[in-house]
Amino acid sequence: MPVRQVLRMGDARLLRRAEPVSHFGGEELLALLGDMRDTMQDMNGVGLAAPQIGVNLRVVIFDVRPPLTDREKSAARYPDAEAIPETVLINPVITRCGDGTEEAWEGCLSVPGLRGLVPRLRNIRYQGCDEYGALIDRTVSGFHARVVQHECDHLDGILYPMRMADMSRFGYQDVLFPSGEYPASE
Ligand code: NI
Repeated sequence: MPVRQVLRMGDARLLRRAEPVSHFGGEELLALLGDMRDTMQDMNGVGLAAPQIGVNLRVVIFDVRPPLTDREKSAARYPDAEAIPETVLINPVITRCGDGTEEAWEGCLSVPGLRGLVPRLRNIRYQGCDEYGALIDRTVSGFHARVVQHECDHLDGILYPMRMADMSRFGYQDVLFPSGEYPASE
C-alpha cells in the first residue's frame, strides 16, 4: 500500500466536514486503511484521519506502542506516552464524561515541526465502528482521550491550533524543546 502525501495546514481540504461511511468491509475502504496505516507509520504518527490524505470520509486510525529500545524511543513522537491499542474508528461519536479538562502538548502530521499546548476533555466515551462494521464503545481518559479528540476533530475540519487557548504556547518543536526531549501529552 502506498504512503500517501499528508495535506498541510492551509489546504482547504483539511477544513471540510467529512462524510459518514455507509458501506463496511469493502475493498475500497480496506485499501484506504492500508494507505492510512502505511502513511502514519512512515511519518511516525500516533494517529491519522482520512481527510489528512485528502479522503473526505469519517475514518480515523490511531496506534501508540510503547517504544522498546532506546533507538525506538528517540524516534517516537511521544516517547513516554501510554500505549493505546491499534484502532480503526469510523463514524465516531464522542461524549463528554464530566467537566474535567487538561492541557498538554500536541503535534500534528498536518502541522509539521510545530507544537502547541491544547486544552482537551480529560474523560470521554467514544463510539463508532471498525472497518467491518463491528461496534466500538470505550470510555477512556488522559492521553488516549486526547488522541481520539484530536483525530476526530479532523473529521470536522478542526486542526489543533484552532483549539488552543493561549497562542503564546505555540511554536517550533526544536525551539520549545531544545533538548529534543519534549514532554509526552501527560
Ligand atoms: Ni492531526
